[in-house]
Amino acid sequence: MAGTEKEKVPVLRAQNLGIQFGGLKAVDSFNMEIGESELVGLIGPNGAGKTTVFNLITGVYKPTEGSFYLNGECMNGKKTHQIVQAGIARTFQNIRLFKKMSVIDNVKAAMQQDLTYKLPHAILRTPLYWREEEKLTERARELLDIVHLSGKEDYDAANLPYGQQRRLEIARALATDMKLLLLDEPAAGMNPTETEELLEIINYIRDQFKISVLLIEHDMSLVMKICQRIQVLDFGTTIASGTPEEIANNPKVIEAYLGKEDEEVQANA
Ligand SMILES: Nc1ncnc2c1ncn2[C@@H]1O[C@H](COP(=O)(O)OP(=O)(O)OP(=O)(O)O)[C@@H](O)[C@H]1O
Ligand SMILES: [Mg+2]
Repeated sequence: MAGTEKEKVPVLRAQNLGIQFGGLKAVDSFNMEIGESELVGLIGPNGAGKTTVFNLITGVYKPTEGSFYLNGECMNGKKTHQIVQAGIARTFQNIRLFKKMSVIDNVKAAMQQDLTYKLPHAILRTPLYWREEEKLTERARELLDIVHLSGKEDYDAANLPYGQQRRLEIARALATDMKLLLLDEPAAGMNPTETEELLEIINYIRDQFKISVLLIEHDMSLVMKICQRIQVLDFGTTIASGTPEEIANNPKVIEAYLGKEDEEVQANA
């Protein structure tokens, strides 16, 4: 009987999660489960509450209702750094990088939590310090290779074109050993060729690292191609969830989002 099989704990489980800002329910009764290696899309019109969901499950905002779990562990009330340690990493709708730092140092800065040496080793530049530094540099180079930024290690982050800055943010997220990667509009501002490259990178990362991905994106060609399931938010409420085909043909979704002449919905990109 199936009862003898141990049920798999989802990587993320959000249960009736909600938050209110003043009179506005930005997210209301949000439910979602993401399994291992699953790629799930979160879509909806501007202001629907998508980024707020990311802020809730990364501890930036405290939910006013509901709870969420990472690998079965309740994360309510945890601080962002504790949630990062438990295995969530994200990129931001507005790119956040150390603009004046080199590309490789941006990735290394995200890995600092892995260091085993203590401050005196760094000050005295002991052999342990150099060994650790070498390991970090090598790992950072591998991650930059994955996001197709080899050869750009010594550029200042600010001097990279926009699409490459977005890929650098992904390398920084990968540096944290996460189980769940949250991507907030990674294709924003990218041309179709860059978007295609991004699609390959996301698929590669998921297969290679066996991680789960939750993707917010207005580029429907990307979402429909890459996601196994999609959930649609409108005014903070889930109005539909299902396969890309189900979502593309759902009258409610067409009415609220896909059918709109909204310049943010990029159906043909
Ligand atoms: N800190 C805050 N204080 C007050 N209102 C907020 C706050 N953060 C978000 N909101 C409001 O919550 C709603 C949802 O915003 P959110 O940024 O989550 O939308 P979104 O779906 O990510 O939109 P977009 O596609 O434009 O990025 C909006 O009405 C927004 O103004
Ligand atoms: Mg947003």
